[in-house]
This record gives sequence, C-alpha cells and structure tokens, in this order.
Amino acid sequence: MRLKKRIVQVNNLHLSYHTLDGETKALSDLSFHVSKGEIITIVGPSGCGKSTLLSIISGLLKPSSGKVTIEGIEVTDTRKDVGYMFQNDLLFEWRNILDNVLIGLEVQKKLTSHSKEMVEKLLSTYGLKDFKNHYPNQLSGGMRQRVALIRTLAIEPKSLLLDEPFSALDYQTRLIVADDIYNILKKEKKAAIMITHDISAAMYTYKQTILLHKKIQGHIIIYFP
Ligand SMILES: Nc1ncnc2c1ncn2[C@@H]1O[C@H](COP(=O)(O)OP(=O)(O)OP(=O)(O)O)[C@@H](O)[C@H]1O
Ligand SMILES: [Mg+2]
Repeated sequence: MRLKKRIVQVNNLHLSYHTLDGETKALSDLSFHVSKGEIITIVGPSGCGKSTLLSIISGLLKPSSGKVTIEGIEVTDTRKDVGYMFQNDLLFEWRNILDNVLIGLEVQKKLTSHSKEMVEKLLSTYGLKDFKNHYPNQLSGGMRQRVALIRTLAIEPKSLLLDEPFSALDYQTRLIVADDIYNILKKEKKAAIMITHDISAAMYTYKQTILLHKKIQGHIIIYFP
C-alpha cells in the first residue's frame, strides 16, 4: 500500500491568549496531520479554539509552543499556497462580486485569461453567474459565503482552511454546498481542514472528524478515520 503524502502536520500545539483579564488557554497539546486529498473536519462548541487553530496553521498567529509544518516546512508566516476562508466572509462592499473573487489573484499577481476563465466557471457552478456585476449587499448570506469560497479556490491553493463555510446557509442549500465542496476538494486532491458546527453533516459527508471540547480545552476527544 502506498502511503499518502502528508501535507499539514500539527505537533503538540499550545496557545494561550494573554489579556488584562488573565490567561485563556485556547489550545493545549493538539496533534494531527492531513494528507493529500484528505478532508478533516473540526467540530466543537463556541470558544473551544477552532478559529485559533486555523489562524495558527495559516501563519497569522504564532503558537505558544509546538509547531505546524506544511509539506515539511515550518509555518512561520502566511503562505501563498494556503487558502483561508474566514468565519466572516470579509467581502469588500465597494467591489462587485467578480472583482471580489479576483482579488486574491490580483494580490498574488496571478491574474491571467486562464485564471479568469476558471473563476467564471466557478461562479457559474455555484449559481452566481448572473450576480457577478452585483455588489455584496445585494446578495443573501449564503450567496456571500459562496463568493468567499470561490475567492479562496481561485488562487488554486494546495491546502484549504475553511472556517464554518456553511453557517449562513439554510439546511437544504447546506447539504448541496457540503456535497459540492467535498467533491471539489476530493477532485482537486487538496488537503483541507474545515470547521463546522454541524456535527451530523461532518460525520455524514466528511467522515474524518476531530472533536475539540471546551472543558478539556484543545484536546482531541474523537478522531476516527
Ligand atoms: N484575540 C483574542 N484575545 C483573547 N482571547 C481570545 C482571542 N481570540 C480568541 N480568544 C479566546 O480563545 C478561546 C478560543 O477562541 P476561538 O475564536 O478560537 O473559538 P472558536 O472555537 O472558533 O469559537 P466559535 O465557534 O464561536 O467561532 C475563546 O475562549 C476566546 O474567547
Ligand atoms: Mg471561530
């Protein structure tokens, strides 16, 4: 049997926030890995450290101890090949949908006719083709989240970090989008880590789930491939 290539490796991660009110332990001694083509979901109650974990993996936040490596290289800063879809969609209200989706490519100077074509195709697949000239405030919450996802996929990242990509979607749309995202991630063989509150969708669609719990902060309770 061929071993799958490990893309993201998280080793003994600890993080404490220090504020005037004292210390908050957000993560303690968390370890796991994600291989090429694998999708790991992280489930857990509000405040258990899920977003903190993605911020560390993306290089936006430094851990108190422990380390994260991506393809063997320690994460010390943000990387171009990691796509991060934030919990809040962070769309620019003054740019239309197409310009919002293209912004990552613009910043990375990767705007070509090929990349534009790919973006148009993604907009069409996600039912946003007719809205590309609209502005974010003319879209529903679910549509905005789809725009944010397309923007993340547009830079063709090797690994993807998704913070609650379905939270603004109604139940039916969520099932469709969960399936779509799953198929895209599988097809593109991306290593993905996805946070969700929806434990049943996580188990059903994505199977590999890490459960973080507030009372035993940062510890993995269940991890079943
Ligand atoms: N910048 C910060 N400064 C101080 N404490 C913080 C900061 N960010 C998060 N925390 C605290 O760290 C803990 C973990 O926060 P985090 O945002 O990672 O939780 P979460 O699991 O993503 O929650 P949610 O499901 O509500 O998004 C919480 O107790 C939170 O209050
Ligand atoms: Mg969060």
